Amino acid sequence: MGSLDQQSPSVILLDKESLEKQLAPLKTPFQLTIFSSIDSTNRYLKNLPIDQYMHICCAETQTQGRGRFGRYWHSPYAENIYCSSRWPISSSNLSGLSLVVSLALIDVLQSLGIEDLEIKWPNDLLWRTKKLSGILIEILENTLVIGIGINVNSNTLDNPLPDRLWCSLFEISGKYFDRNVIIALLILKLEQYLEQFNHHGFAAFMEQWQQYDCLKGKIIKINQTSSTISGTCLGVNLTGELIIEDEQKNIHYLGSGEASFSANIA
Ligand code: BTN
Repeated sequence: MGSLDQQSPSVILLDKESLEKQLAPLKTPFQLTIFSSIDSTNRYLKNLPIDQYMHICCAETQTQGRGRFGRYWHSPYAENIYCSSRWPISSSNLSGLSLVVSLALIDVLQSLGIEDLEIKWPNDLLWRTKKLSGILIEILENTLVIGIGINVNSNTLDNPLPDRLWCSLFEISGKYFDRNVIIALLILKLEQYLEQFNHHGFAAFMEQWQQYDCLKGKIIKINQTSSTISGTCLGVNLTGELIIEDEQKNIHYLGSGEASFSANIA
């Protein structure tokens, strides 16, 4: 479902009418905005006045796509997905939320036939150690902006990113995908997972998380804003914190940071 099953690219642009039709099963009243070009879909939703709608914003390209830790997110025109959605916050405890968003994404990609996916805590989606997707979650007053970038139809073999290993759905499957289909599936899945998260927290997703956690049992390094912690990863706890045992056998529980393997493979 969703793939065009062909070798030569026939670009399908983002289509508001088609997307709205596919999003009709949503329980949450929504508004969808599609831009040909915008600085950042996350920034757009952060600046939008609060109203009663769940807002979705997608763009063909972003001139200032933003990644975690203030990084730039490469956003070539009409190739990939740059999609943000803004949801009301209905729980005061959001720990583990970003892990749940990555599980929603995995679920959607698997339904499209993509296998061998893993998650590098908290929410980097990897395929055979290469980065396929990134998630940037920003919390403002009573709302949550979830920004998702998925490398879909980019030819990552011919256009490698200078600073990191990355891949796309095209590289994995040899097929081009209709991004409208993937975005619709993703938003529908997010609604379902966010509802479950609001009621039961991250604990309800623990078993699912274990299947995709690529850090557990590995010796890793976590960079935080002002410190670095190295040790063996023991997995995550019921609130989604990463558990690290250092060389002195001290246990650390981390709520944020960026993980890398000791051999620096991701
Ligand atoms: C990461 O660093 O891994 C997170 C990348 C998040 C990129 C997405 S693309 C849509 C949304 N708009 C942005 O400016 N960033 C997010």
